[in-house]
Amino acid sequence: MRLSGKVAIVTGGGNGIGWRYAERLAAEGARLVIAEIDEAAGREAARRINAAGGQAIAVRTDVSSEPDTLGVARAAIEAFGGIDILVNNAALFANISVKPVEELGVSEWDRVMAVNLRGTFLMARAVLPSMKACGSGKIVNISSNTVFSGGPSMSHYVASKAGVIGLTRSLAREVGPFGICVNVITPGLTDTAAAEQTISKDRFDVVVGARSIRRRQAPDDLAGTVVFLCSADSDFITGQIINVDGGHILH
Ligand SMILES: NC(=O)c1ccc[n+]([C@@H]2O[C@H](COP(=O)([O-])OP(=O)(O)OC[C@H]3O[C@@H](n4cnc5c(N)ncnc54)[C@H](O)[C@@H]3O)[C@@H](O)[C@H]2O)c1
Repeated sequence: MRLSGKVAIVTGGGNGIGWRYAERLAAEGARLVIAEIDEAAGREAARRINAAGGQAIAVRTDVSSEPDTLGVARAAIEAFGGIDILVNNAALFANISVKPVEELGVSEWDRVMAVNLRGTFLMARAVLPSMKACGSGKIVNISSNTVFSGGPSMSHYVASKAGVIGLTRSLAREVGPFGICVNVITPGLTDTAAAEQTISKDRFDVVVGARSIRRRQAPDDLAGTVVFLCSADSDFITGQIINVDGGHILH
């Protein structure tokens, strides 16, 4: 097990890809804090990890709220004594408006930015004191490969995910001297209920056809990269974008 004794917070760990990250980190020996706005899903994720012999708690968290992010960091320290890993996965993606810029409302723009970008910033800020005190830590931010391809009529989403890359790079420079690595994954279109609600079947087919590896992407295709970036195997990697999309975007 590569993460024995580590404490990991996974935001949005109750559903979709985040659940898969949480399950795989637990399988590698990490103790899990599921930070979820969907309370029932968070509780169920923790229950399943505990039932499988792991250790997990769920904390109802809205990552766009500063008090909530400070609260989940406190809960992690109280339950498990510290924080070694943060996976910033929570985002608004399901059911966001898909509209051209002229039709996109300011409140919709702000809502997506508040969760996807401010939430990533607030969670990092909340865990850094504990990581600095240990002199080590791993932060894995989740962006999207739409940053490279452009996602028509999803300007708020794509801009928020581009912001996550900028934040990652800046933070990596800032906290590297404290032994903390910060990296970002850009997943391709991945099979989750959220993706199926937001992206048409035709678009899924077009994306599969554009990949070097011509098949649909599953949450499991991403989980190994998260484990790697949370483990000692990646201790000299920071500030990097890891694109996991079956060879769709080559850069
Ligand atoms: N599925 C894809 O095709 C795809 C592609 C590229 C990137 N991504 C990114 O991967 C991540 C997971 O995507 P997914 O498809 O599993 O989506 P999802 O909607 O299934 O999962 C998002 C999770 O975040 C939680 N969440 C939403 N708002 C929150 C908030 N304010 N505070 C805390 N939790 C909140 C939701 O309850 C949910 O559990 C997201 O960051 C998404 O942008 C997904």
